[in-house]
Amino acid sequence: MARVVVTRPINPRAAELLNRHEVWTWPENRTMPRGLLLERVADADGALVMLTDRVDDEFLDAGKRLTVVSQMAVGVDNIDLDACTRRGIPVGHTPDVLTETTADMAWALLAAAARRIPEGRDYVLGGHWREWDPDLLLGSDLWETTLGIIGMGRIGAAVARRAAGFSMRVVYNSRSPKPEVEEKTGVAYKTLGDLLAESDHVVLTAAYTPETHHLIDHAALARMKPSATLVNIARGPLVDPEALSRALRSGEIGAAALDVTDPEPIPADHELLSLTNCLVIPHLGSASRGTRLAMATRAVENLLAGLAGRQVPWCANPSVYSRDG
Ligand code: GLV
Ligand code: GLV
Repeated sequence: MARVVVTRPINPRAAELLNRHEVWTWPENRTMPRGLLLERVADADGALVMLTDRVDDEFLDAGKRLTVVSQMAVGVDNIDLDACTRRGIPVGHTPDVLTETTADMAWALLAAAARRIPEGRDYVLGGHWREWDPDLLLGSDLWETTLGIIGMGRIGAAVARRAAGFSMRVVYNSRSPKPEVEEKTGVAYKTLGDLLAESDHVVLTAAYTPETHHLIDHAALARMKPSATLVNIARGPLVDPEALSRALRSGEIGAAALDVTDPEPIPADHELLSLTNCLVIPHLGSASRGTRLAMATRAVENLLAGLAGRQVPWCANPSVYSRDG
């Protein structure tokens, strides 16, 4: 029997799988206070964490007994993977199970922003809808336009696949070209500059790393079409929020839809929230009932494997298994 800390209540059907172990779960629906987390992890063999928990040297120093860290998310930018690898600790994450659900959300946001659905809703709720108006809230088409996808991992490829239904041309940029995806989905690799200039709609699915910090800055936004839509379903700091505010206000781009923000959560008085052409939702990319259960289950499976000394099946730092000694 191992000791496990779970930093947030998870679906009981997934939690049940841990019942041979001694589990302590933070019972509240908010991020576990840092001090308590460091205290609780001190005698834990495994930790199941959320993307709001920072797993760094301080955490790992406190968690001297840890043999596995399992995150209930695919993105692991909150985790210092090198620090975990140095200590021989495998890090689990939850790819694949959330890919399609997150790609669905990219399209929901894209359609909502391009076709001005939030503004239409506000118009109706505000009592302004008196008659049909041929010039009311005209948006941008999706069909037969060019979609630019930045980051061509699993989620990027799933976003690309959906574009066929809208007869769109799809271009992409990523760290390295992906010939397999090009073959399967007909997408074409572009430099970032060319992608931004050619795309009617841009979707960000790239991982957040030091290299992608504020990838979409003032210069990037200036390259985009004035009618363009920008969707971010990856991580907030891929976009410079001040530059985005300016671009949306000045008409440098048409609209933005953000599932993630910088900072996150975004303060209610942030300028982006005052712009009618900016739609912001609270990090709901993978938030379907079925997918969150699948993520919790996968996170538990990773944790159980690590506790048993088996290879973590969905491991974010596989090099931990190829180290010397
Ligand atoms: C959510 O943002 C995730 O990385 O799974
Ligand atoms: C990123 O890890 C993805 O699944 O696209």
